[in-house]
Formats: sequence, C-alpha cells, structure tokens
Amino acid sequence: MGNNLGFESTDTFLVEERVFSPSSDTVENANIMQYMKSKGFTDYDAFHKWSLEHRFEYWDDLAKELHWFEPWQTTFEWTTKPFFKWFSGGKFNPVYNCLDRYMETPTRHKVAFYWEGDDGSTRTLTYEDLYVLTNRFAKGLQNVGVQKGDRVAIYMPAIPEQIAAVLAVARLGAIHTVVFGGFAASALRDRIIDSQVKVVITADGNYRGGKHIELKKITDEAVAETPTVEKVVVVKRLGTNVAMTAGRDVFLDDLLADVPADTVVPCEPMDSEDILYILYTSGSTGKPKGVVHTVGGYSVGVYATTKFVFDIKESDIFWCTADVGWVTGHSYIIYGPLMNGATGVLFEGTPTYPAPDRFWSIVERFKVTIIYTSPTAIRGLMRFGEEWPAKHDLSSLRLLGTVGEPINPEAWMWYRKNIGHDKLPIMDTWWQTETGSIMISPTPIMPLKPGSATKPLPTIDTDVVDKNGVTVGSERGGFLIVRHPWPSLMRTIYGDPARYQTYWDTIPDVYFAGDAATIDKDGYLRIQGRVDDVIKVSGHRLGSMEIESSLVSHPAVAEVAAIGKPDELKGEHVKVFVILKNGFEPSDELAKELKLHVRATVGPLAVPDELEFTPSLPKTRSGKIMRRVIRAKELGQPVGDTSTLDG
Ligand code: WT7
Repeated sequence: MGNNLGFESTDTFLVEERVFSPSSDTVENANIMQYMKSKGFTDYDAFHKWSLEHRFEYWDDLAKELHWFEPWQTTFEWTTKPFFKWFSGGKFNPVYNCLDRYMETPTRHKVAFYWEGDDGSTRTLTYEDLYVLTNRFAKGLQNVGVQKGDRVAIYMPAIPEQIAAVLAVARLGAIHTVVFGGFAASALRDRIIDSQVKVVITADGNYRGGKHIELKKITDEAVAETPTVEKVVVVKRLGTNVAMTAGRDVFLDDLLADVPADTVVPCEPMDSEDILYILYTSGSTGKPKGVVHTVGGYSVGVYATTKFVFDIKESDIFWCTADVGWVTGHSYIIYGPLMNGATGVLFEGTPTYPAPDRFWSIVERFKVTIIYTSPTAIRGLMRFGEEWPAKHDLSSLRLLGTVGEPINPEAWMWYRKNIGHDKLPIMDTWWQTETGSIMISPTPIMPLKPGSATKPLPTIDTDVVDKNGVTVGSERGGFLIVRHPWPSLMRTIYGDPARYQTYWDTIPDVYFAGDAATIDKDGYLRIQGRVDDVIKVSGHRLGSMEIESSLVSHPAVAEVAAIGKPDELKGEHVKVFVILKNGFEPSDELAKELKLHVRATVGPLAVPDELEFTPSLPKTRSGKIMRRVIRAKELGQPVGDTSTLDG
C-alpha cells in the first residue's frame, strides 16, 4: 500500500440526522442480547467497552460453542509482530461443525439449501444430502490424489456441487482457492500458478442471466499454462459436449460411479492455525494477493458474526445473494450459516433475469426471512420501480443486510420501505476479504442511521485517525484502522509475508484497512471508500494495476493509468487513460478493441466504461504514474501535494 496516503480531508461531512430505533421485541429476542445479559449488560456501548478489556473471554465463549477434536491451549499469541495465532494447540475442522455434528440431531433432516438455477430449475438438499454428497466428493478427490495441504482450485457456477466441492476439500484438510466464475482464463491461470494448484474443479458450463459461460473451455485455456495441475474434475451442469483431455480430465459422475452413498471420509483434525483457504483479492499494486485464512480463527469469527449480526434462529431461511467466488459467499453462504445450522438459499442467476422481480419472487417462494445483498443490486432494482417488489408477498422477511460498498441513504430508504415493510432493521456490514468476517455493523438491537454501518462488533477496536495515527474528532474524516487482531483476520498473503506486513506498517502497529471514514458524535461510522488504488465496481474489488497490465499487454499500448470514477449505479466505474505506441492512431475501433482485450484477459467486471487516449500522464521523478493526481484532475478536485511530481 505504501506510505503515500492520498486522503487529507479537512471537510466536515453533513449528515442527515435520521435515527430508526428497533422494536422492543426485536431487541429482547436478539441473540446478541442473550449474550450481553449473560455478562450483565443490556447497553451495547457499555458491553462493547467490556469486550475490549475481555476479548479473550469473549472469543473463548464463542469458540466453545463449536466442536473441537482437541481444545486449544492458548487463546491468542503474537508470534513475531505483526504475525499472530489464535486458539493454538486446538484441533478443529469447520466441516465437522458444518455437517457431521448434525448427523446425531434433528438438523440432519432440515433443509441445508434451497437451490434455484438461472433457468428456474430447483433442487433441495437436506443436511444429510449435503453430508452424503460432500463425503462422496471427498472420496473422489482422494482417489485423484488430493491430500492434506494440497491446493485445489474451484472454478464453478453456483450449484450445490460448488458448495460440496469447497466442503470436500476442507474435509480432507486440503486448501481451497475459489476463483469467481466471471474471471477470464489468464486471471484463473495466474491464481493457479501463484498457489501451485494440483487439482481444478470446474463445470462443463452454465448460464447466467441467460448467457452461456463456457467454464470448461476457459479452464482448458488457463490450465494449458499451469505446470502444477494434475487433474481437472468436471461437474456436468449443462450436459453439453466438452473437450476432455485424456489422463487429465475426469467427469465427477465417473469419479463417483463406484463410490457408495454411505462412504464416510473422516474430517481431518487440523491444527487451528493450518490454512483453510486462499482467496485472491486485488491490491493497489502488483498482482492479486492470496489472502490466507486459517481453520480455527476464521471459523469462530464467521460463526459468531452470523449468529449476532444476522441473528440466526432455528426457523430462519437465510439468503446471501453473493457468489461463492467472493469472501462474502465463503463466510455467509457456506461456513457461517452451516455452522449455525441454518437453512440457506443458493441462486445461480442474476437479479434482473428474466425480469426485475427475480429476487422478490425467490424471497416469496422460499419464504426467505433474511436477505443479504449489495448496494449495487439495490440501486439497480430501484431503477425498475416499486411495482416489481410490490408484486410479491415479502412478509416472510424479518431482517435485511448489505455489504461491499457504501450504501447511499436514498438506496437505504428504498430498501427499508419496499423490501423491509417500512420497519425491518438493515445491517450495513463493513468488512473485507482480509478481515474474514464482519467487523463494523449494527446488530438488531441498535438504532440505525441510513448510510452508516454504525459501530464495531464486540472486541473490534476501530478508530478513525490521521496519517500519524492520531485520532481525529467527529468533525473530520480520516483513515479507518483496527488496533488488535481478531480471530478471522488473514494470517498472511500467500507466498508474500512482506506484503502482509504493509497492512501493519502504513500506520505503525495498527491494521490499516485502506478506507476513509468519518465518525459522528454518537460514535457512528460512515465508510467513505478506498484511499488507495483499489477500484470498487459494483462492490467488486479491482486493482488499477490489473487493468493496466492487461492493457499494456496489447501491442498498440505503451502506457496506461486506470482510475475509479463515482457512478450512480455501480458505486464506481473504471476510466483508463491510454498512451499509444508510435505508429498507432487513436480511433473508436481501437478503443473498442482495447475494452474487449480487458474483458478477455481479466473478465467482464474489469471492462472500462470510459477510455481516453492521451499523449502523456503525470509521473513522479522515479517514473511512477500518479493516479491520485489524474483522478483529482478528472473529478475537478484539488490536486494536493505534488512535490514529487516530475516537471
Ligand atoms: C472493501 C472490501 C466484505 C465483503 C465484500 C467486499 C468496501 C465493504 C462496505 C460497507 C462501505 C464497504 C470497503 C472495503 N466495503 N463493505 N458496508 N460500507 N464500504 O470485500 O472485496 O475485500 O472489499 O469493500 O472499501 O475496504 P472486498
């Protein structure tokens, strides 16, 4: 991230003072309230203060609600700062907590997932069904040589086999790295190479929003350049004819043909600090970062936040609309809900296909009680008008959530009114791939302010500071930081511990989130967006460098700068400034070709909305392109400190 902090706001933020208080029965029945009362509290602020002084007691309590093969000896220890461990000595497997422990309880026959395909087909899986599928899948993976510690890439559509694949890999103590099905071949290839993947699990293809995605073909392209991949397991989603490479590729059906339904592959008892998964995310510079999450701490973090933020009860039907390819899907489609024994919904399609009431139709038909989605989805659906949700009976809903980017108060109010019967609590959850689980969010007991993620969860010690780490008052914005590690925080960046260290070096000894925030007189936080070169398009995270490297790999391009620009619908969109090589002339055709090049190399979500040809770009004396200056100029803002600018 470097030390070149570009956010030096002295603005005061005008905030509309609208406060929505929860109803007394919501407060009384909330899971968090039960816990608070057990510690002698009914006031959240007082409880939070207690939790900062008793963070190990809190996390011990939550960890004890899960099954450990052997208990931990030490709740927390710094190894060499900023590296640390949680629950060391403990033996644990999240999959045991997601599936096995229910085989002796009535949850065995409860629905684990209602699934709906893009084409409208449906499947229902009980916990027992998912247990059987996962065990057979694990056996199949063992049969192609997957062992504890191996890396397995999962590049699949949202179908039940995707979830079973994740759980099967974790069951064996292998490490999953899920790659979003919307990434292109070279993005998949780079991730496979970085984590030396041995086996790739994919599908023949799928449909999303009615569009055919040829996952197997893309996988073939990627794997042609990855020396470590030994096997490709192919799930038949469409039953189309796909090319299969003899000796390397195998259909899941064939792999499981001789694996009986009563096959049990015991969960590998992992060390608490063993790696559960690697998930790639974009940074401000260089290639994507492999964020490493561990078995014990990550699981305890997502278990606790699912329980307290979404307030999961026995009867809930929880729908997180994210894709499993992002951290939201890992934490709140798979691990959190299953560890809480909840019923989930898994949806393969998009919000507007075949019509803009697809979400509300799913809520009605599956009687969803909790929906967790993104501000972009809300803003997108808002555009189609109130009549679309009004067509459906949404009375099953009792709690709403959002994640991924700041939610503007207007979208918040629309969500509350049209989806939340004008009264449901909205959990605006702030967190990151790196944090593993939700960090700042209301719980159902808190008064809400539209556009504010409210306050940090128990034990989370956030602050808003200036670049020297000094707390700023409620009048000014600053950098969002966290003061002490929590269980689900990443342990490192795979293969690049120095890059992990930059999170703790940018401002010494605190976790630097990369976001700007304000805090009001009531301690309510408003997250303003990124202060680095990360661009958030529809809540998805893109690195300027990724888009720039894609474009400079095109023969016509000499240099590029990519920036994010505010976008009413998507939060931000990408604009690129391109310097062409000698002999190439700017044209609309070339602009189009360059956009297609980004689509083909990074994926559709990285495609720039704006492309401008330019003869030069502002650079530092050492030749680094100053995106901050370009962005400020583009937005008509003060350019700030340019003392390092060349010329
Ligand atoms: C970045 C992390 C966490 C799962 C999805 C995104 C932004 C996330 C909020 C929110 C304002 C938010 C931040 C953060 N962000 N949630 N509720 N309000 N901003 O994970 O891709 O790792 O991105 O998303 O900028 O740093 P991610």
